[in-house]
Amino acid sequence: MTLRARIWGLLDPISHGHAARRVRALELLLILIGIFSVSAGTVDWVAPAARAVAASVSGIVAVLFFVEYLVRLWVAPENPHRHPTTEARSRLRWVVSAEGIIDLLAVIPAVAAASGGARFGAESASVFVLLWVLKLATHAPGVGLIARVFHNERSALAAAAALFMIVLFSAATIAHWLESEHQPEHFGSIPASLWWAVVTLTTTGYGDVVPQSALGRVIGGLVMLCGISVLALLAGILATGFAEEVRRREFVRIWELVARVPFFADVGAIAIADIVGHLRSRSYPAGTMVIRTGEVGDSMFFIVTGKVEVRIGPRTRALRDGHFFGEMALLDRKPRSADVVTVTPCTLLVLNVADFYQLAGQQPALIAAIDTEAKRRRAEDR
Ligand code: CMP
Repeated sequence: MTLRARIWGLLDPISHGHAARRVRALELLLILIGIFSVSAGTVDWVAPAARAVAASVSGIVAVLFFVEYLVRLWVAPENPHRHPTTEARSRLRWVVSAEGIIDLLAVIPAVAAASGGARFGAESASVFVLLWVLKLATHAPGVGLIARVFHNERSALAAAAALFMIVLFSAATIAHWLESEHQPEHFGSIPASLWWAVVTLTTTGYGDVVPQSALGRVIGGLVMLCGISVLALLAGILATGFAEEVRRREFVRIWELVARVPFFADVGAIAIADIVGHLRSRSYPAGTMVIRTGEVGDSMFFIVTGKVEVRIGPRTRALRDGHFFGEMALLDRKPRSADVVTVTPCTLLVLNVADFYQLAGQQPALIAAIDTEAKRRRAEDR
């Protein structure tokens, strides 16, 4: 693998590797340090020496973002999700993508400071906060998820927005009819009444504009109730959208992990879909005792990456990616027969006992294969 491909692996926003996650965390930390140091520079009571340190930190962060931009530009052709013909084109596509534009904006402070020569004043530097907050928006985990949820739920959200507009304009028009005589300055026209309608419908209620007539107040009450209903509707749409998207992403992630376990290689797509719904992934550092002899068995494990050691009294057995363990206690309904300890950092797929028996009904061939291996192990341990 070339150096460029390796660096792309570290910067790939969807990579689940430990190193890639660490790079993402570091980048997030850098953005937060940058925002914090620029913000600190605008506080009057901070001592001049501390402000000078904050300005230097902001400068360092700006330079690091500049370097990062150049690195991202260099590795852009490694992105497998874009298929342009030449390297220059894939770089250009990254430059004009939302992420590329935002990263370019984040570089402005470094370029401005370099071309201006002198150090920036705290107030003019405060604009960096806005640029770096934008960068935070693209690199913070979960922002992509929010964007996706809004995209998935766009038709339901549009319907709720339409309902909002209907109530808003109806309320503003009725308030204009009822109140224009009493308060022409606030309700003299429909656009003027809209301010009251928005404040009331969003249940903000500044209280700066209040209907005077009895009927106007009744309408005000109704608008508030409508506002609560519309907001509840929006909250419901977004909450369901989030739950569905998180479930979908988890399903795809587990599916990718299952695909890496050779034991599932011969199982058809429909059966895999069955299995994926029952599995959870867990990461363990090296040296963790995953199973202890004599414990009650409540789950079995498939190794996606890493190595474990099975300790049966003085004897040991090594298991690696593609193998499984913890099945005997579930099949025999007996306590655990051995200790199982991770030798390297491991990613495991966990199948709990209830799901194991449910799967036994749905996928008897799969459980029979596990049973055959358990029989072989039992014979070996005797
Ligand atoms: P269980 O008894 O639930 O917990 C300990 C696990 O160690 C056991 O299931 C098996 O999965 C595993 N194990 C026991 N003996 C062997 C063996 N000889 N080879 C590989 N794995 C084993």
